[in-house]
Amino acid sequence: MRVVLVGPPGAGKGTQAQFIASNLSIPKISTGDIFRANVSGGTELGRLAKEYMDRGDLVPDEVTVAMVRDRLGEADAQEGFLLDGFPRNVPQAQILNKMLAEFGTALDIVLELVVDDEEVVRRLAGRRTCRSCGKVWHVAFDPSSKEGVCDACGGELFQRDDDREDTIRHRLEVYQEQTSPLVAFYADEGILQGVDATGPVEEITERAMAELRRFVD
Ligand code: AP5
Repeated sequence: MRVVLVGPPGAGKGTQAQFIASNLSIPKISTGDIFRANVSGGTELGRLAKEYMDRGDLVPDEVTVAMVRDRLGEADAQEGFLLDGFPRNVPQAQILNKMLAEFGTALDIVLELVVDDEEVVRRLAGRRTCRSCGKVWHVAFDPSSKEGVCDACGGELFQRDDDREDTIRHRLEVYQEQTSPLVAFYADEGILQGVDATGPVEEITERAMAELRRFVD
């Protein structure tokens, strides 16, 4: 199955992507995670992406698209994938459609995680991420048992550079201007499904899986 997750920063795309991808046995491909791994690894791609990410702006399309094209060409993505954070604007969506057509496939469904701006700010301001395994925590909603330490692997928890309140507000503006038009784009294609992304994480996963099971049953 080929799935895209769309939603504002902090909607819970990364949180839900790990459960959905695991339930469906498909790889989760997060452009944000790939950029952050390159920043940590000190690569040229990371150096280029970091200035845009720190401001909360989108990394230029040519850079992002080339990276996704490479990733979708890998063996584990041939039978399906879950894209988290890509596409991020209509030009990227058009290129993705062309790319998949070249591979002889198409997207099955686009899930839009729906949540309001104030909840986004609450979620992102308290987010902590494990430097070793990448697991995402929240200081109030999903705290690790020992502050600053990941329960899953014992790694160090850190706060993302783009999770400062002023940058979060800018990322929300970028989402409204550049990413939210994707909702109409995919609605026109007849593959958009909205999911209420408020409430407990497990309930949101169940709502998303209820939509996705239509394709696997
Ligand atoms: P990216 O990493 O994709 O960031 P984002 O879209 O802003 O999304 P986030 O990762 O901030 O949030 P999320 O929705 O995954 O929420 P999460 O699950 O962590 O992109 C970062 C940057 O990379 C961009 O700004 C851009 O510069 C660049 N980039 C990436 N893709 C690009 C592209 N295609 N083109 C150009 N540039 C690109 O949850 C957030 C918090 O909430 C966590 O603490 C979590 O524990 C908590 N939480 C989750 N669910 C719940 C719940 N139900 N109740 C309470 N708390 C919850």
